[in-house]
Amino acid sequence: MALNLDAIGKKIGPVEKPYTWKDLVLYAMGVGAGFDDLEYCFEQKLKVIPSFSIASVFEFLAEVGISSNANLAGILHGEQDIVFHNPIPVEGTLITEGAVTHMYDKGAKKGALVLAEADTFHSNGQKLFTNYFTLFCRKDGGFGGESGPSTQVDFPDRPPDFEEHADPSPNQPLIYRLSGDIFQLHADPEFAKASGFEKPIMHGLCTHGYACRAVIKHLFPGEPERMSRFRVRFSKTLYPGLPITTQIWKMDDGKAFFRTINRETREVVIDGGIVEWLSDEAVLNRKRQGGIRFDDRVAVVTGAGAGLGRVYALELAKHGAKIVVNDLGGAPDGSGEGAQTPADRVVEEIREAGGEAVASYDSVATEDGGKAIVDTAVKTYGKVDIVINNAGILRDKTLAKMDPENWDAVMDVHLKGAYNVTRPAFLNMRENRYGRIIFTTSAAGLYGNFGQTNYSAAKMGLIGFMNTLKLEGDKNHIKVNTIAPVAATRLTEDVLPPELLEKLKPEFVAPLVLYLCSEQCPVSGATYNAGMGYFNRVAFATGPGAVVGDGKAAPLPEAVAESFEKIKSLDPAEEYPNATAAFGPMLDAFSPKKAEGTDEKEAGLTVQAIFDGLPGAFQADKASGVDVVFQFDISGPKGGSWTAVVKEGTCEVEKGSHDAPTTTIEMGDDDFVKMISGELNAMIAYTSGKIKIGGDLMKSQLIEKLFQF
Ligand code: NAI
Repeated sequence: MALNLDAIGKKIGPVEKPYTWKDLVLYAMGVGAGFDDLEYCFEQKLKVIPSFSIASVFEFLAEVGISSNANLAGILHGEQDIVFHNPIPVEGTLITEGAVTHMYDKGAKKGALVLAEADTFHSNGQKLFTNYFTLFCRKDGGFGGESGPSTQVDFPDRPPDFEEHADPSPNQPLIYRLSGDIFQLHADPEFAKASGFEKPIMHGLCTHGYACRAVIKHLFPGEPERMSRFRVRFSKTLYPGLPITTQIWKMDDGKAFFRTINRETREVVIDGGIVEWLSDEAVLNRKRQGGIRFDDRVAVVTGAGAGLGRVYALELAKHGAKIVVNDLGGAPDGSGEGAQTPADRVVEEIREAGGEAVASYDSVATEDGGKAIVDTAVKTYGKVDIVINNAGILRDKTLAKMDPENWDAVMDVHLKGAYNVTRPAFLNMRENRYGRIIFTTSAAGLYGNFGQTNYSAAKMGLIGFMNTLKLEGDKNHIKVNTIAPVAATRLTEDVLPPELLEKLKPEFVAPLVLYLCSEQCPVSGATYNAGMGYFNRVAFATGPGAVVGDGKAAPLPEAVAESFEKIKSLDPAEEYPNATAAFGPMLDAFSPKKAEGTDEKEAGLTVQAIFDGLPGAFQADKASGVDVVFQFDISGPKGGSWTAVVKEGTCEVEKGSHDAPTTTIEMGDDDFVKMISGELNAMIAYTSGKIKIGGDLMKSQLIEKLFQF
């Protein structure tokens, strides 16, 4: 069985891992933390051990093993290098995506290396760390590939500057495995013996966590968030209960080498360690950026030459963003030639205050204009992270007097204008896997306002735009929200009473807009009213409704009239995250209720049905030269034994046992059904001990190839 070289470059993930402070504490205790370093174990003022990052991507690593087709019996974790970009928050979801990057051949006797790389983002959109993995595949060498580079760490010829002793408990792996690495080699004495060990061994990554705590303690105590790189090579296995010592040599500023030894045998178990950490200056810089900051962020604000847009642009720039100040410079109704002065003046204001900005005079109302605005951001600053669709005009008339020109002019600026700018920006954000988009609606649209049908329709169109775009942007951390501002500007000077205008400064709207544009923004697809420093949320709510008729014959209008009190009721009302969810109650209204206690899975696929279907799932074209007998021993009330004999391109399945199976597969009935229906990953089932494989382990890897359900 050869390595699958086609796996190189194929995307793995996103793999998501939600976590809370309890996961951090469990991990910390798994790697030996306790009262001596309580900051890792007590939820008040909790700090995160940076090596938690690897415990969080275990599932990704399993996928690397599966996709590269490496022989499971020979896989060892070879090296691990982690580069940290931002401190790990104490809760949230980690989203990991990456690929196998290289496969190197060390020779038929030595084995092969499978290298993979993965970026992990936090659910707040921040990139937290990049993991570089090397799997050592002892049984896959000799495929004729390049031998690859080798990284050597030359330890100084002097005693270590620091030594940290630790005494992992004999039970340490039983705690550590609860963080995700539940490979039975670390828990099951029988499995460990069958794998050639006296008893279960320590996880290499558990010792890795001990080493990580040790280097922090001696090099930057109490500040784990300073770590910027942590690299190790796993050189030897270790039994739990043996004492270890991490030896550290401080090199240049911000860099040290380390290794961890078995204190009893003096064998090196973690070798070639490199740790790097941030300088005081870099830490200060990071602290300055605390709170809501937009350093390195690029924002496009349309209609930023006056009113609300101007204040958004000034405030974002004050908080570190680079701004494209877009404004056509027309009259309040959009008429006139346009002028460069409004945008230029705001750019000047920003620059005078020490910020960075560039002007754009294009109209949002055309496709070319929208593209040119976004191009200005990309050409000047390399990307676009934030778009505030704010440009606006008014052409108020009652519907009776609303001619198509006035209808279209308002639609073109507000609704189509948002499309013209947002689409090219969205494409750029998607590439960068980050974005914040703001639409500007209005109370006129949300609630209605006499004489503004064009404006109200355009403004509500934006809410529909947001409702769908929030779904399309979600997996790339693009959040889309809408605000309905109230502020004194030239658009409102004739509409609002003068005494109110004084209190309605755009500065009182901007804080919410900045928050929604920030990395910290926790919502997507939400709408808020904002004015005078008062903010509240607006949402669509759906009532419980009523069933009219039997769902077979269409009901009469009279029957609807009879039920109308119930139909129109909003008590209780519910919000739905998307159209499919909102459709649910309608479907449920007529579907027969599931019999109590019936499990859907049970009602569907069964173990017997899987074996009945096995001959049909057999891929004869992949079986040439294969001669193998699989015996499946499925435990549990719905289990039994079956054999599958594959020979000369045919497959025969029979109930019962075989005298001399090539490979035996033992599994529980529920887990087996889950695995076949794709709910349980085969690699994870194996490493967690849910599948036990006897006989020829290598041949078990043929199953996935020979049978496709
Ligand atoms: P404003 O008139 O002071 O600012 C709007 C800016 O958009 C102007 O500088 C104008 O030149 C620019 N603009 C117009 N058409 C453009 C185009 N085609 N391309 C580029 N720029 C263009 O108005 P204000 O009040 O600051 O309005 C900002 C947004 O807030 C608008 O979308 C408006 O509908 C909305 N809004 C404002 C409310 C308020 O109380 N001020 C209430 C509800 C919504």
